[in-house]
Amino acid sequence: MAEELEPLPLDDEDEALLAGARGPGAARAMEIVAALARVQGAKRLVRIASAHVSGVSYRNIGEPGLHFLKTLAQGVEGLAAPATINPGGVDFEAWRELGADPAFVDGQRRIVDVLASMGFDPILSCAPYHCGYAPARGEVLAWAESSAVSFANSALGARTQREGGPAALAAAITGKTAAAGVVLDAGRRPTLAVDVEAAIRTAADAGALGAIVGPRAAGGVPHFRGVLPPGQETEALRALGASMAASGSVALFHFDGVTPEAMDALELDPTLARIVVDDLAAGYALPGLKRSGPVDLVALGCPHASLDEIGEIAATLAGRRMKSALWLMTSRSVAKRAEAEGFGEAIRKAGGRIVCDTCIVVAPLEALGFHAVATDSAKAATYLPSHQHVETFFGNRETCLRAAERSFF
Ligand code: F3S
Repeated sequence: MAEELEPLPLDDEDEALLAGARGPGAARAMEIVAALARVQGAKRLVRIASAHVSGVSYRNIGEPGLHFLKTLAQGVEGLAAPATINPGGVDFEAWRELGADPAFVDGQRRIVDVLASMGFDPILSCAPYHCGYAPARGEVLAWAESSAVSFANSALGARTQREGGPAALAAAITGKTAAAGVVLDAGRRPTLAVDVEAAIRTAADAGALGAIVGPRAAGGVPHFRGVLPPGQETEALRALGASMAASGSVALFHFDGVTPEAMDALELDPTLARIVVDDLAAGYALPGLKRSGPVDLVALGCPHASLDEIGEIAATLAGRRMKSALWLMTSRSVAKRAEAEGFGEAIRKAGGRIVCDTCIVVAPLEALGFHAVATDSAKAATYLPSHQHVETFFGNRETCLRAAERSFF
């Protein structure tokens, strides 16, 4: 016999939405929010401070996804919370130079147009917190990009479940999400203690650590004790979180002495499962990766690079010349600031380019003529072999830049 789902109290505003007060799209969105809350056993809905929608690349969702978006957009005139969108499949300003198919660009444009017509800010970035949408500690969000979810929860102390793309879309329209999972205090307690004895010298090392811990944490909440690279703590937290989200569906972690909700080691439950990581080699040897070979594209900026990272890379490239393509991915707003600082020019001088609006995992790489990609991102290295079917190499930033200089990893 099917199990009865708990009843979910809805307020007058929710009931009005269900009854069609803001049109058929908003009614459908409210049905989605309520149904997902019931499935999760939530006892109430909670108001969100912002939403971020993923799954907007034309490569991934195509015409069926566009049709779904149009269904939800019916009658929707404005959103109930500020909302942003993840990278799509093309750089809208440089697509001709990059060799993108005009029909693909048109499909991507129509997706963005539908979302923008509803009120989404088309930042086309997985780092909304670098684009004017950094949440405050304790704010409830409905974000759907797993790396952004991890960073918002862990480094910023906001509260967001790892929403699916349609769920985040429905939350943006209704302004509500389920009070469940890491939105609640109970969902934020550590489930695994991790002692990091291996040296973490770079963000790529942090990503490799995440690739080891993610599957062990398996959707839980790891609590780390160790040392992050001085001056690169933020990049390391982003890489660690993105990697664990990709390899183990981890939405929240704590890092002793670094993240806002981390506990002192003495406060941790002594019965908590504990692991020690004293070697990162397994985190660099992900399934499907190649150890060595020719490279035609080096991709940095997964998650989308900050202005500081772009500045560091620009300085590192001084006097060097890249033989293979070099993409440095970021949001349009960060790219504008990077251009104003002269970083874009320095990167172009070395043969690289800043790429906006898109991401290495959802761009149509094969159609753009790329077959072998090196990256310093464990998240990208996790997904590229299966999602893009390209030869994939994973190493730290300097290793990747050297590979770009020689076209060989
Ligand atoms: Fe961002 Fe794409 Fe990486 S969405 S986190 S650049 S896989």
